[in-house]
Amino acid sequence: MSENTYHQQPAEIPQAPAGCPVHRTWSPLDDGYLADPYPIASDLMSAHPVFYAPEVGCVVVTEMADIEAVFSDHETFASTNVQDPVYPLSPEATAILSAEDFDPVAVMSNRPEPDHGRIRRHTRRGFSNRRIRSLEPYIRRRSHELIDDMIAAGPPTEFVSSFAFPLPGETIFRFIGFPESDDEMLKSWCGDRKAFSWGRPTSAEQVEIAENMLAYWRYCRDFTAHKRRRRGDDFASELIDAHEANPDKLSYREAESVIYGLSFAGHEAVTALVCNTLLCLLPRRDAWDAIRDDHTLIANAVEEVLRFNSSQISWRRIATRDTAIAGVDVPAGTAIFLNFASANRQESIFCDPDSFDIRRPNAGRHISFGKGVHYCLGANLAKLEAQTVTEILSRRLPSLELAATGKDLDYFPNITFRGPAELHLTW
Ligand code: HEM
Repeated sequence: MSENTYHQQPAEIPQAPAGCPVHRTWSPLDDGYLADPYPIASDLMSAHPVFYAPEVGCVVVTEMADIEAVFSDHETFASTNVQDPVYPLSPEATAILSAEDFDPVAVMSNRPEPDHGRIRRHTRRGFSNRRIRSLEPYIRRRSHELIDDMIAAGPPTEFVSSFAFPLPGETIFRFIGFPESDDEMLKSWCGDRKAFSWGRPTSAEQVEIAENMLAYWRYCRDFTAHKRRRRGDDFASELIDAHEANPDKLSYREAESVIYGLSFAGHEAVTALVCNTLLCLLPRRDAWDAIRDDHTLIANAVEEVLRFNSSQISWRRIATRDTAIAGVDVPAGTAIFLNFASANRQESIFCDPDSFDIRRPNAGRHISFGKGVHYCLGANLAKLEAQTVTEILSRRLPSLELAATGKDLDYFPNITFRGPAELHLTW
């Protein structure tokens, strides 16, 4: 396996660093934590700001200042493990992924400097404010069409499948240039990828997931080859232009891998953000009515959702040399789990942190898009989507509310992404 392989395999779960407090039983995959991580995350932070969790083989960092310090020092804390499975894979899944042509390379989130900066520079052009803004008419039109369909079908609706999944998926897929006919397949592969890198699939599930990951990568390669022959007005064509203009600055394999990376990063957390926005606003009628009457409140309300009920509640790093975090020694090779769920509710930063306040003055101080050289490339697009959807829904369906189902919300078991699997709404 080359050092820049997109998904590296963890060999085994490492031991606790000497002197580091250990929490033997906590796991971010426990049902209770998946259902509501916030009280548990706060208790963990109060007990030990930095501790080792054998269940995930990571040193967990809970406080904002320490998380920001880790993000800011990319030489000591590399991001090379962010796309890796948390747990070692079964031999059968490993055999499938050993196929000679399963060879995506680390490009942005998981690539160290200086290559990361080089690749990001050549990719960022496609993410200019102008280009992101140019997506707004599409987002508006598609939102209206999906709401028309919801209204035609009549209440109630299962909102993840009727709206929150299609809108961000289709937006990024059209942006990249994938044909509409492949949307369903792409979305299903992205579900596999979430389980692969951040979940704990069984051995049988791993085999199916590995087969789908291989098919997904082969699809990205075929798609890039097709775009190379027939350019369009899309991000993939622009990326191939960038490669051909400067092959030593962006290799062809890197261009293919950027497409593989973005086809996941561009929608998974946005679907959850759109749902979490409604989960925050709809039960608080004052807040919902306020944003319905005054759309200028929406931008800050979305920042507050990203703080209070984020769609991404952790991210990882790995220590490249012996170091220390908040006085705890951390040897080279230690995996680090940055716990956004605790930092985004830290009382010393956010006054009354467990209340949701659309007018909170420092709502945007959250850490949900990371920090430093790897700061989320799609943050503006994610916010634009969530703001546009909130504005349109509050105008067209002002009586929207959560539908009683008699069941608790279900969250897909993984360590990072957080949004309901289903969200039943009525109006
Ligand atoms: C609510 C939605 C989203 C959340 C919460 C989110 C969160 C994050 C986080 C935490 C990181 C890692 C930052 C770090 O390591 O410092 C990241 C990186 C990244 N995100 Fe997002 N993201 C979202 C939406 C998007 C969208 C819509 C796109 C693309 C259209 C995107 C593309 C990326 C890319 C390419 C990176 C890697 C950047 C780099 O390493 O240079 N994300 N995101």
